[in-house]
Amino acid sequence: MSTASSRYTNTAVFLHWLIALAIIFQLGLGWRMGDEPKGAGLYVLFQLHKSIGFTILLLSVLRLLWRLTHKVPILPNTMPQWEKTAASLAHWAFYGIMFGLPLTGWLLVSASSTNIPTVLFGVVPFPHLPFIPHLATDIKSQLHELGELSHSLLALGTMTLLALHLGAVLKHQLWVKDNVFSHMAVGAKTGWAEWRLWLILALVPAVFASAWLYPTPKPKKPQPITMQITPPVLEYSTESSTESQSPQPSTNIQQATIEPSSAQVVAPIVWQVNLKQSQLGFTTSWSGEAVLGQFDDWQADIMFAEQALDKSSIKVMVNLAQVSTGDEQRDAALPSTDWFDTEHFPQAVFKSTNIKRVSNNSYQAQGTLQLRGKVQPVVLDFNLNIKANKATAQGSASLSRIAFGVGQGEWAATDSIPALVKVVFNLHATKK
Ligand code: HEM
Repeated sequence: MSTASSRYTNTAVFLHWLIALAIIFQLGLGWRMGDEPKGAGLYVLFQLHKSIGFTILLLSVLRLLWRLTHKVPILPNTMPQWEKTAASLAHWAFYGIMFGLPLTGWLLVSASSTNIPTVLFGVVPFPHLPFIPHLATDIKSQLHELGELSHSLLALGTMTLLALHLGAVLKHQLWVKDNVFSHMAVGAKTGWAEWRLWLILALVPAVFASAWLYPTPKPKKPQPITMQITPPVLEYSTESSTESQSPQPSTNIQQATIEPSSAQVVAPIVWQVNLKQSQLGFTTSWSGEAVLGQFDDWQADIMFAEQALDKSSIKVMVNLAQVSTGDEQRDAALPSTDWFDTEHFPQAVFKSTNIKRVSNNSYQAQGTLQLRGKVQPVVLDFNLNIKANKATAQGSASLSRIAFGVGQGEWAATDSIPALVKVVFNLHATKK
């Protein structure tokens, strides 16, 4: 072990400032991630946060090795013993944080019900903690929660400790006017005029805020939805109406009032979907565990009449970036290029081509689904109940995720996630 000197060695100083700035950036990034909407952007931030976190872990190992093999500078004699003990405790608490934050992050990622790989800085694949991904689902979920809770408590602890640490430095530098700051800030003089102090004080908020400058793929605005033009509802009356008496080419009108054999010719009606009451999602499984996904942003154009199925149509547009499956990691991953690739294909669109009645109130809509740049035929089975001007419909469609390229690379294998995914919906609509 080396002897104590008047300052930390260059290696210790370098590691101190590098780790300090990385931790402050991580605090900002963690904060930003909490506000970031789900999507490809959040996925990119997760990967960056994990990459810097594992780098901090590695640097902290080096830092600890240095600490265990070197003497630290002697604190000024003027410092009361309690303050020396407090400083030492705070320093060791920082070591706890430097290891605790990345390790709890590693635990929560490894115990996540998904298996999202970590690729450090987009280049180096980094494994999960051993054994954890293979544990039983309920144990994993408890470990995941434990990881999440301790990770956020440690982040709060870091902010508190940083405030105390910085407060102590300011006290020594500006009030007591001893040489403590120069232990870590090479060449620093005591007092207000020390530029290194002001540089550090400016860097803390700047580095924290710079987490918001990191660029992420912007979610593409959903393409404008083309309005379907509703064919006019032709209601023919056997009695001549005021409208039919209006000054129009009389022959046509007269023909129209006479031709139909029934009193009414029915054309499909526009139905307005009540999105608050309705749900659209999918079911699948992930390593044997059932997964229920829900799309939070979608729209539907529905024209439907039981007596005019040939003219009825259904069109559903789904914003794929807004998906929730009850797992933060998985939700952040789904919009990425491995899955929906929302940067290039923000929307999925189903368009019916033929709707037929199967029995009483059960129907089948054949159509096409455009997803991830591919168009494939899809059959949608649903039950429909219409009461006065309200309708409810529940149904599903089975489709192969592989046919659309949802799940690239290692995710294309169907051993942990089956090829067939069931799209499910529950609609509430009102006649427009
Ligand atoms: C950004 C503001 C910061 C300032 C101005 C600052 C300043 C200092 C100073 C002057 C010392 C030497 C104290 C002494 O000689 O006893 C020190 C030590 C230390 N600092 Fe910081 N620091 C900052 C941030 C951080 C952060 C974010 C961490 C978290 C990793 C940290 C961890 C430590 C540790 C563990 C020591 C003790 C070193 C050892 O004995 O191995 N510091 N800091």
